[in-house]
Amino acid sequence: MAEAKKDMESKLGGVAQLSSFDPLNGNKHPQEYYDKIKQKFAEERDLRLNYRPEGTAQFNSDFSGNLEHFGQDSYNRDVKARDTLNDTVEVLFIGGGFSALLTTAQLKAVGIDNIRIVERGADVGGTWYWNRYPGASCDVVSYDYLPLLDEMDYVPKDRYASATEIYEHCQKIAEKYKLYDLAVFQTTVTSTEWDEESKLWHVKTDRGDHMKAQFVICANGPMSKPKLARINGIEKFKGHSFHTSRWDYDYCGQDLSNLKDKRVAIIGTGATAVQAVPQLAQAAKELHVFQRTPSSIDIRNNWPTDPNWARKLQSGWQAKRRQRVIDGPPVDEKKKAKQAELSKEEKIRLQENANIDYMMWIHDRIDSIVEDKATADSLKPWYMFMCKRPTFHDEYLPSFNLPSVHLVDTQGQGVSEITEKGVIANGKEYEVDLIIYATGFEVQKTGIYNKIVGQNGLEINDHYKDGIRTLFGIQSQGYPNLFIMAGYQASFQFNITDVLQTQGGHIAACIDYARKNNCASIDITPEIEEWWVQEVINHRGKTDRNKECTPGYYNFEGEDNRRQDGTYNGGFKRYIEQIDTIKNKMDDIFVVSKASNA
Ligand SMILES: Cc1cc2nc3c(=O)[nH]c(=O)nc-3n(C[C@H](O)[C@H](O)[C@H](O)COP(=O)(O)OP(=O)(O)OC[C@H]3O[C@@H](n4cnc5c(N)ncnc54)[C@H](O)[C@@H]3O)c2cc1C
Ligand SMILES: NC(=O)c1ccc[n+]([C@@H]2O[C@H](COP(=O)([O-])OP(=O)(O)OC[C@H]3O[C@@H](n4cnc5c(N)ncnc54)[C@H](OP(=O)(O)O)[C@@H]3O)[C@@H](O)[C@H]2O)c1
Repeated sequence: MAEAKKDMESKLGGVAQLSSFDPLNGNKHPQEYYDKIKQKFAEERDLRLNYRPEGTAQFNSDFSGNLEHFGQDSYNRDVKARDTLNDTVEVLFIGGGFSALLTTAQLKAVGIDNIRIVERGADVGGTWYWNRYPGASCDVVSYDYLPLLDEMDYVPKDRYASATEIYEHCQKIAEKYKLYDLAVFQTTVTSTEWDEESKLWHVKTDRGDHMKAQFVICANGPMSKPKLARINGIEKFKGHSFHTSRWDYDYCGQDLSNLKDKRVAIIGTGATAVQAVPQLAQAAKELHVFQRTPSSIDIRNNWPTDPNWARKLQSGWQAKRRQRVIDGPPVDEKKKAKQAELSKEEKIRLQENANIDYMMWIHDRIDSIVEDKATADSLKPWYMFMCKRPTFHDEYLPSFNLPSVHLVDTQGQGVSEITEKGVIANGKEYEVDLIIYATGFEVQKTGIYNKIVGQNGLEINDHYKDGIRTLFGIQSQGYPNLFIMAGYQASFQFNITDVLQTQGGHIAACIDYARKNNCASIDITPEIEEWWVQEVINHRGKTDRNKECTPGYYNFEGEDNRRQDGTYNGGFKRYIEQIDTIKNKMDDIFVVSKASNA
């Protein structure tokens, strides 16, 4: 058994595996079958767009007044007193998650030690500090997802690591790289302003600090600011409520045992709810799952790491796995030749048919697990694969076979109101003791909680008013010595760590260049920024995908958006190659200002 798993592990090579999905096998049924399903996809999308023409404005992430508790840290409620800081560091990270940790290792490798993390939470970890909901774990294979496994000489305990293990790993990285020495926690950066005279960033915080830094790295996270749907009456609820990224274990009990006499509602059925529902289902007296759009749920198949496999891993094993991902699967020449014979339209048709076959397999899986037919039907997602973040779980669907678990299918409309006593959906009031909002996060925004003002007094969002403008999603012209991680215009990988690792390497190379060339500041030229904007536009792919998909954060809730306001779709390999090319041309792409002692 262990041998078979080890073998599978090496075959999968760490890439998240989907159950059989091959575009060239997309003709299992007559075309009318696929067309009919596509028609149903369109109807389900239109239904949702009609309910919510306001797009992304349906959400609120600026919590104040009665909503303030939704954003507060539920793990460390007491704020540790400390003196305000007015010092200067070489590199300052806004945020202390994977981005900061990975990049620190790369900065230290080129001799940069004067590094400070400023973090809103009370520790490092980022996503894995905040998201401690029961059942939280990564869904990208942990041997690929956890950063710095070679450097830390660590092999995760399971194929998919728990949030607790990932958080502890982050703490160990911070210790190894001595990040705690200068770090400031429970501190939110509120403004980051460039001072042309001193060539330093002035960083102010909600704790009254006024720090300065030569280089600032915005590592504020692709999904770290929780959001709530703007549902009427949220503040009126007399019971208890929280967002999944601020799980209240004081209320629930560490083992959720306090929920045994509680009626619980969870709103939302995205990747978070899919992981939390099975635990809530076991613990709560009654659980109501309020669903607006179902997730697609593939097989998870987690297993403990085989100690024999782990023992045999040789130094540099994670880097080798990463390289395999970058290289991609070996080219199947026959398949390539077959594909080359197809017209663009035919390729799209076959791809869509294969996509539909996969989604119908997801439907079949539901039918084979969920006993009640009406519930099974409600759990079936009607959209193309990848319109929404796919999920992987083996216990979510069986939860709905428990008599205490009730799916409230709002058929695209969503919860309409919160009352003093509970939740209203489909015109019915559900009285509950606890409401858990699994309604997600603001996505890939640069400068959350923070105002970034560049060289010409221009706030970064004003620089982006006619569309995002960056080089590699990392630098923006007019914002010298400032780097952005996990934002738009960068390549998107299912395993985001790969992208962060690449970005960290580039940032370390830029800072190293500045140091070696005695530059007080480096900025990119307008030409190189424009070149990348055009690269992003040219590689955006199928233009109407946003319109065809059911609304969600992947397509900006169905809003029309500019082609440059998204991820770079030219492929991860090409993204890396473009970055590598630039590494040898830094003299050409940077406008530098020499240090006064030069
Ligand atoms: C529940 C969950 C599970 C996920 N699972 C996966 C997965 O399996 N695979 C995958 O590839 N990706 C996953 N992701 C995406 C995940 O966010 C990234 O993988 C990665 O952890 C991002 O690291 P980061 O350092 O860029 O950002 P984060 O981990 O989000 O860290 C950013 C930090 O910046 C802090 N911050 C923000 N603004 C400020 C400010 N103004 N001042 C001070 N601090 C600030 C935040 O408090 C946060 O701690 C998941 C995301 C979530 C929410
Ligand atoms: N380990 C993992 O892999 C993992 C785990 C958790 C999260 N994540 C990451 O974090 C991202 C966010 O996941 P998330 O689940 O926290 O958020 P999410 O995917 O944005 O899901 C939010 C959910 O709330 C629902 N919703 C919003 N307003 C509603 C309303 N008025 N009534 C009822 N439902 C409503 C949405 O429905 P609609 O679909 O109709 O909009 C959706 O189901 C994921 O996509 C993933 O990238 C990863």
